[in-house]
Amino acid sequence: MRERREYAEPFKIKAVESIQLIPRDMRLQAISDAGYNVFNLPSEAVYVDLLTDSGTSAMSDRQWSVLMHGDEAYAGSTSYRRLREVVEEVFGYPYVAPTHQGRAAEHILMTMLVKPGDRVLGNMHFDTTQGHILLKDAEPVDLVFPEGLDPQAELPFKGNIDLAALERELGEHAAGRQRVPFVLITVTCNNNGGQPVSMANIRDASRLARQYGVPVFFDAARFAENCYFVREREPGYAAKSVAEIAREMFSYGAGCTMSAKKDGLVNIGGFLAFRDEATYRQAVQWQIVFEGFATYGGLAGRDLEAMAQGLREVLSPEYLENRIGQVSYLAERLDELGVPRVRPAGGHGVYVDARPMLPQVEPGRFPGQAVVTALYEEGGVRAVELGSLAFARRDAKTGETIYPPNELVRLAIPRRVYTDRHMDHVARTMGLVMKRRHELRGLRLLSEAPVLRHFTARLEPLP
Ligand code: F0G
Repeated sequence: MRERREYAEPFKIKAVESIQLIPRDMRLQAISDAGYNVFNLPSEAVYVDLLTDSGTSAMSDRQWSVLMHGDEAYAGSTSYRRLREVVEEVFGYPYVAPTHQGRAAEHILMTMLVKPGDRVLGNMHFDTTQGHILLKDAEPVDLVFPEGLDPQAELPFKGNIDLAALERELGEHAAGRQRVPFVLITVTCNNNGGQPVSMANIRDASRLARQYGVPVFFDAARFAENCYFVREREPGYAAKSVAEIAREMFSYGAGCTMSAKKDGLVNIGGFLAFRDEATYRQAVQWQIVFEGFATYGGLAGRDLEAMAQGLREVLSPEYLENRIGQVSYLAERLDELGVPRVRPAGGHGVYVDARPMLPQVEPGRFPGQAVVTALYEEGGVRAVELGSLAFARRDAKTGETIYPPNELVRLAIPRRVYTDRHMDHVARTMGLVMKRRHELRGLRLLSEAPVLRHFTARLEPLP
């Protein structure tokens, strides 16, 4: 599949932020002090920070300027109205409840609609989504088609739902609608590599769900990247604008949760949006207790302004070409070094496949985390493990550890922040890790929290 294309730089730099690569001995000390967990590193000890693409975007001059228009009224803010108009224009959903970030929108949606014993179906639920479903004593069910989990399968839409599995689940559980409150489609699918979902798959999944009277919602965090891939890869969409594609995509759903920290191009913010007023009214009840009044939802008026402006900018074809192009650029540099990775490259980053890279390190010794710590040691690059450290869980019945299907290392690229020279540094650093890879023995846990342990765990390298 064609990943790399020529792309222009559709912006120049107006403000700069200093970063430095601290000396190697200091990096070794910093990662040791951090308990070999990059979440514990002070950010000034990081040179190129690819921990996440969330909340790390550079805002545009337009976004900075609209901050001054923020209306900080507690109720009836004009900034809220501007956000509502843009969301309706982009998503086609007229009812909008702002939240402080994506997981807050999930919190409200799950509180409204999920009951104990329910099965929430989706392609792949993000970890906070899973967490909110589990907190309701319900079951998050991932139905991504099997090749979606094969890092080597070079397919255009690896975020697609397995429609046969969806039909089976709906047939078995949706009778009476007690057991499947909704289907949640995550675009793009973060957990398996930022992989897009095709329009055809969304259309078919939504038709199936409708047959069973089950609504479809989207986790829209990276919707623009998904829509760009539809235009590039799906027959019949090359002549459409990304905005038109987005309108079609959301027309198949009843609403969405949004982490605007990704494709809203802001540092904080999110929302819920609905087609239907009654559902929105229900959401507002919870929004007010969890987040804040209906017209600010835990955000400042200026944040609402920046989010509205960001949602307009993210659909620019030049921006998206550059964005996806940069991800492919890094992927290509890693290919030159023979680094195993998820294919094709995703929308928001490159996912390195740690299992073939470190075959000597078994899942219980966290091969992904071994690559993550080596990347920091070799070049001050901060990546994140999406493997056994993040996702292994103990079976409630047998007590056995269930390992995730893959041991991945995500190099998530913040939007509009780094140049391709930063990407060259990342690739060079990965080259140094490749040279050292046979020496890496993995790590062992010293302490862990009962849920989402990767954020706070402390580890030590095995000798
Ligand atoms: N949905 C998806 C697909 C996500 O990737 C995230 C966050 C959320 C929901 C939650 O949104 O952070 O605004 O509360 N992903 C970040 C990441 C943290 O690094 O991938 P949030």
